[in-house]
Amino acid sequence: MSDPIANEVLQLRREIERHDHLYYVLDSPELSDPEYDGLLRRLRFLEERRPELVTPDSPTQRVGGKPREGFVRVAHSSAMLSLDNAYSEGELADFDRRVRELAGRDQIEYVTELKLDGLSLAVHYSDGLLGRAITRGDGAVGEEVTENARTIRSIPLRLPEPFAIEARGEVILTRTEFQRANRDRLDQDLPAFANPRNAAAGALRVLDPTITAQRRLDFYAYLLLANGAPTEPLHAGALDRLGALGFKVNTHRRTCQGLPEVLDFIRHWETHREALPYDTDGVVVKVNDVALQQRLGWTARFPRWAIAYKYAAQQATTTVLDITVNVGRTGVLTPTAILQPVPVGGVTVSRATLHNEDEIARLGLQIGDGVLIERSGDVIPKVVRVESPAPDRRPFVMPTTCPVCGSPVTRQEGEVAVRCVNTDCPARLKESILHFSGRRVMNIDGLGEVLVHQLVDRGLVQSVSDLYHLTLEDLLPLERMGETLASKILRNIDNSRSASLDRVIHALGIPMVGERTAQILARHFGSLDKIAQASADDLQRAEEVGPRVAEAIRSFCSEPRNRALLERLRAAGLEFEQQAAPTSGPLEGLTFALTGTLPTLSREAATQRIQAAGGKVTSSISKKTRYLVAGGDPGSKLDKARSLGVEVIDEAALLGLLQSN
Ligand code: IVH
Repeated sequence: MSDPIANEVLQLRREIERHDHLYYVLDSPELSDPEYDGLLRRLRFLEERRPELVTPDSPTQRVGGKPREGFVRVAHSSAMLSLDNAYSEGELADFDRRVRELAGRDQIEYVTELKLDGLSLAVHYSDGLLGRAITRGDGAVGEEVTENARTIRSIPLRLPEPFAIEARGEVILTRTEFQRANRDRLDQDLPAFANPRNAAAGALRVLDPTITAQRRLDFYAYLLLANGAPTEPLHAGALDRLGALGFKVNTHRRTCQGLPEVLDFIRHWETHREALPYDTDGVVVKVNDVALQQRLGWTARFPRWAIAYKYAAQQATTTVLDITVNVGRTGVLTPTAILQPVPVGGVTVSRATLHNEDEIARLGLQIGDGVLIERSGDVIPKVVRVESPAPDRRPFVMPTTCPVCGSPVTRQEGEVAVRCVNTDCPARLKESILHFSGRRVMNIDGLGEVLVHQLVDRGLVQSVSDLYHLTLEDLLPLERMGETLASKILRNIDNSRSASLDRVIHALGIPMVGERTAQILARHFGSLDKIAQASADDLQRAEEVGPRVAEAIRSFCSEPRNRALLERLRAAGLEFEQQAAPTSGPLEGLTFALTGTLPTLSREAATQRIQAAGGKVTSSISKKTRYLVAGGDPGSKLDKARSLGVEVIDEAALLGLLQSN
């Protein structure tokens, strides 16, 4: 019997799964966000009309689970042990020698993989459907975190065939997501996570899946099992098969003939790992031949067929010259160690975060002390421990008044953060303006720290909305300001009036509402007024919005001073409504690429204008590209465009096209 709605639902699910895989696993999307959202919206609409068609593997069911009371403990199919470590090439050579001796072979074929720094997870499928996800726990028994794991987009809800398998792998946060997580933590006045691994653990091991969903966790699979045992004769084959089943498998892997090739791989990533989007703390070396793995077996704690080579942490010793206190956007006072500058892993470090008073006490740190510091990836360097207390050391005392405005500070019971009570504190205002004008927010190029300080200190800007009333006369007297720069900044401020609704929501700096939540809110409500009027229940109907986020939005929007700010921003002409994605316009059907610096438009602004006129902007050039818009100092795209015969135009020609309607 034919049921056209059921058929469409099935078709939409397959289509969305394919695009999820392209986007989240292969990192090569084919659809724009609005196109993808259109598919998901249609599926939701149909499933709402026909609830009996909803199945747990539908892409609409990623975030649906309700908060639980506690975790259920579940036994693993086979021990989920960790790896022995090698800290030097010598220790790795010992490992290779042991394996060769036990195997009775002269040379071993190994597979090398990057060791991602997260937490391990076992994901079970039966009949091809995601069943349970279990953390490592003590290796024998872990905690069931299925609802949380479902929110991780790189974990397929359904396999292409009805297999019963188990994929083990690492749940990680990219560095960008880690920074976002820490910004959100600061917004909530919670102490920052020390590293991406803690942040990932914090997001996976929470009882409320909506909290997990707010972090874009990622999952890289590295072992394939059925009934607790490997399914493929070669480990390299297992990784390929995991990829074919729809899992994300790290492409930085290699099958190596003997130790020298393993060392090549390790040395290569030692110097290239900084450029990766996530932290790696080493390389995992595994015997490729699974039958040999089984012959080698396990010690009580580790497999004898694999080892983790650990890179040395990037550490250095230096002196704490002073401890200063910054005041953030929410008024929280954060102590920072000012260091005798020291090179660490190719970067000169002169500051380290100390998070809060308790952290300083925990370290037993005083001003003047010699300390060991560490940096990994993009993470702000931190003090690991005091190495040599100075004879004339001075204890740090948290100020009792705000170092910026002099108002009293408070520390609420049960909180680690100390906060300035003055909501008009200039420090808070400066941080709010910097957040507002940020690149991924209202994207006002040129509004840097130095300028913002002057604007606030001279009373030219008392609220972010004042930015829209600045004039050339206001800016010209400022330091390092000429007419060209001033006009450019004013033009950038002016351009920001057309920033999309999600950016405006993000720009408001509502606690717990970062970029992603702002996008979700914009999409769900379509208007800032609707969000401001929504009840906590209404707010929670939006995907991924839980009770705490809803409460933060309610309390922000019910504050009279924030309501007044909204009205001033509305009067300044900011976008309070979601603009429908244009399906037609003068540039409909045309694909553009951009290169170099355009004389007046920022890259973001050019992209927005092209898209608003129905055109498409891609990051690379192909035969499908209709125009390359080139500015000063163009990149390699220009050569590529010429070799493909793609027409190259300048900004003036683009503006002409935009007007030709
Ligand atoms: S294999 C018996 N492969 O590192 C094999 N582990 O210190 C066990 N890890 O518990 C794991 N990347 O959480 C393996 N490519 C990789 C890995 C990896 C990260 C983690 C994993 C493991 C720990 C061992």
